Amino acid sequence: MFSKLFYLLQSLLLSLLLQNVRPALGDLCPYDNEQKFEKGEYGSYPQQRFRTSRLVAPVVNKLSTHPSCDDGSYTMINPRGNSVPEEGSGPMMLDANGNMVWALTGYQQTYNLQVQEYRGKQYLTFWSGNDAVGGHGNGEYIMLDQSYKEIARVQAANGLEADLHEFRITNEGTAVITVYDVREIDLTRVGGFLKGYIWDSVFQEIDLQTGKASFQWRASQHYDILDSYHDKGNKGNRGNPWDFFHINSVEKDPCGNYLISARYTSTISYVNGTSGQVIWTLGGKANQFTDLSGGRATDFKYQHDARWHDNYTTITIFNNGAQAPFQEENSKFSSGRKIRIDTEAMTAELVTEFVDSREISSSSQGNMQVLPNGNHVVGYGYNGAAVEYSSTGEPLCETHFEALDRFHSGDVQSYRVMKFNWTGLPNTDPALALVNNTVYVSWNGATEVDRWMLEVGETTTALGYEDISWEIVSKTKKAGFETAINLPEDSGTFLRIVAYSKTGYALGITETVRLDQQVRSHPI
Ligand SMILES: *[C@@H]1O[C@H](CO)[C@@H](O)[C@H](O)[C@H]1NC(C)=O
Ligand SMILES: *[C@@H]1O[C@H](CO)[C@@H](O)[C@H](O)[C@H]1NC(C)=O
Ligand SMILES: *[C@@H]1O[C@H](CO)[C@@H](O)[C@H](O)[C@H]1NC(C)=O
Ligand SMILES: *[C@@H]1O[C@H](CO)[C@@H](O)[C@H](O)[C@H]1NC(C)=O
Repeated sequence: MFSKLFYLLQSLLLSLLLQNVRPALGDLCPYDNEQKFEKGEYGSYPQQRFRTSRLVAPVVNKLSTHPSCDDGSYTMINPRGNSVPEEGSGPMMLDANGNMVWALTGYQQTYNLQVQEYRGKQYLTFWSGNDAVGGHGNGEYIMLDQSYKEIARVQAANGLEADLHEFRITNEGTAVITVYDVREIDLTRVGGFLKGYIWDSVFQEIDLQTGKASFQWRASQHYDILDSYHDKGNKGNRGNPWDFFHINSVEKDPCGNYLISARYTSTISYVNGTSGQVIWTLGGKANQFTDLSGGRATDFKYQHDARWHDNYTTITIFNNGAQAPFQEENSKFSSGRKIRIDTEAMTAELVTEFVDSREISSSSQGNMQVLPNGNHVVGYGYNGAAVEYSSTGEPLCETHFEALDRFHSGDVQSYRVMKFNWTGLPNTDPALALVNNTVYVSWNGATEVDRWMLEVGETTTALGYEDISWEIVSKTKKAGFETAINLPEDSGTFLRIVAYSKTGYALGITETVRLDQQVRSHPI
């Protein structure tokens, strides 16, 4: 312990003497509006592997960029799909350049990575579980602290399972989550059995300390099965229940009421947090609002991610209306929408529509997030794409992590794409690999590393016991996930790399390796 501390002080002093930081060879650069990428010539999911980690990162294509899209925050995705390898499937963070900063594997299917605050501290939260149960999920929500240590698994209450669509931590230390539950119901009015079965849409507010639900709401008690647009088909029995409502977002407001979005009724509802009664419904067959925009404020279909903005006067959504049976009457492409509502006059008005020039159509998933600087991030769910728009709907930055020619295939999906600031201080050591006189170094999730210092060492007995005396030989700017550093000709016997912050603090040290070993380390 003491010698480590002494060493860190010593190298801090030495680092001040070595001011020339070398540029590094880094990860593969993101593609710059590359047509071969879009045509699928590099595959559905262009990707790269590393020498210091088993993780697989996307190599994104940047079709357009704008300085306002780099506000220092990170893009959070959960890539999955036919073309995403297991070592690249899980929660993942990319920087503004598209370089991977952190990724995690080893969980079941994951969705919905976000940064959320709980009791004044920041956590990464994501869902993990089985998503093959019919358009929703049976699982739990994971919370990681700043060192990426799992500190909680949040489960649904009342013997049910947490669904993948929503987990929002409130200021009161609770979380609202979505839940799906099979329920027996009379389906004769939709051509089903008297003893029919639905996937009922439920949401719960869970106390994160006790795990108990302080509130639970069920769609079947408030919406009629005839409000659904979802073709029942041959569903509706116990083994294959019919999903008539499909809840996909919930948020709680300061009045204690909830704003919820449901795909199959194409409704946004405002639910009384005391009685559970529906205070009003926007959109769908149950719509109560007069549309001041000739239908464009209320004709959204199969939408996701309903959020309040502008002091509870506007709502943003991701409109999935570009899908059968709606694409003719609704729209041919997906969009973000901002809708102003007046709950006294009961009117709705389309403020802005966020449409990209490539007319992406996402049949499922998707989101829109309003950033502090006013930009709006749209994640295209079923397609591997994200577009950041100005507040007036101008597309500023378009990034693809799936070839355009492979859109609508399910090859590369991410339920949501969101941006958050994050400081990650992993409790692992940086990983080092030595291949043919090049040293590679990475540190999964370490957001504060600015540069890497390469040190070589010789055995010494000067202090009366055997130790290694270290000498700094180069400083290299961190570049992307993995930084490559050339090994000088006359290196010593031992080698290690120290991570430094922008302000000159040593943050971590790799293992020490003997130079006669060709090292490949896989710390994950
Ligand atoms: C919510 O329900 C409670 C209890 O029934 C009622 O007192 C309150 O007025 C309702 N709030 C709204 C906004 O409808
Ligand atoms: C938000 O709306 C409420 C009720 O209309 C009003 O009292 C409050 O001043 C508004 N706050 C802001 C920041 O505009
Ligand atoms: C990240 O932090 C910067 C600096 O405080 C701020 O300007 C920016 O809006 C934040 N971005 C997000 C997505 O929260
Ligand atoms: C190392 O260099 C040798 C000789 O140039 C080459 O054959 C070998 O493929 C290289 N190994 C790696 C992992 O790049």
